[in-house]
Amino acid sequence: MIKVGVVGSGTMGSGIAHVFAQYGYSVVISDLSDDILKKAINTISENIERQIKKGILKVEDKEAIISRIRTTTNLEEFSDVDLVVEAVVEREDVKREVFSKLDKIVNENCILASNTSSISITRLSKSTKKPNKVIGMHFFNPVPVMKLVEVVRGFLTDDEVVNKVVEISKSLEKVPVVVKDFPGFISNRVLMPMINEAIFALQEGIADKESIDSIMKLGMNHPMGPLQLADLIGLDVVLDILNVLYENFKDPKYRPATLLIKMVEAGHLGRKTKKGFYNYD
Ligand code: NAI
Repeated sequence: MIKVGVVGSGTMGSGIAHVFAQYGYSVVISDLSDDILKKAINTISENIERQIKKGILKVEDKEAIISRIRTTTNLEEFSDVDLVVEAVVEREDVKREVFSKLDKIVNENCILASNTSSISITRLSKSTKKPNKVIGMHFFNPVPVMKLVEVVRGFLTDDEVVNKVVEISKSLEKVPVVVKDFPGFISNRVLMPMINEAIFALQEGIADKESIDSIMKLGMNHPMGPLQLADLIGLDVVLDILNVLYENFKDPKYRPATLLIKMVEAGHLGRKTKKGFYNYD
């Protein structure tokens, strides 16, 4: 079985490490400090407990899963992995630096995947000497629950690498869907304009927030309304992704709603700050 490295142990990195370890892979996960890594292991333990309560896992699985995850603050320990999934903050400069470091450490057949929501895989691939081995492996939050992996084929990615990542995603009981490397891929290119339009509708006073969310839930069968979903994702993240779409396509249809910009300026970022379109006190 291949060995897996995960860079970044936040919301996504911890979920990705969890799922790989759950399906028998040995995983090494890195972050900037031991404290952050300790928190990530705690989060994974709590999430395993939740799966045990739901009957998805057995009590004895917990120790086995945790024992397959090794933590480190030193990327040099990635020298023997076959696949790296990068899940550091959504900043191109930080990701480029991670890719360029990994390029010097990993073996020549290692696949370098990014969990980015919106950054160009092709540009990231150019910070390595093997852009043909670089690919997008876009998991969704919460990773142990969500079935989709959006597999993003960069302009230089080998077919063999795409096939391998599809196969690996299936081994995690996920459903891989392959798309080309265009801004926002498919998921965010379709989702973000919908959320933005809901914010425009609110800003224009066409309906209040509850009405907008009810219409999309009851009329379109969405599990949550667009404004509730924006609060869950984080309004800063929504704004960042809309800006990526706007700047890359140079099309005004992606311009972020002024209300969204103002809310981010005010620090009303959604659930994580307890205030967004709704209050979470
Ligand atoms: P997060 O902020 O929870 O975690 C990022 C982690 O990266 C932090 O623990 C941070 O300490 C670490 N980090 C920063 N620089 C590092 C470096 N140089 N080396 C090692 N670790 C470093 O962020 P989150 O939400 O987990 O997002 C990570 C990536 O996943 C981003 O690219 C994001 O766009 C993407 N993503 C996020 C989703 C979400 O719902 N949160 C969904 C799908 C993708």
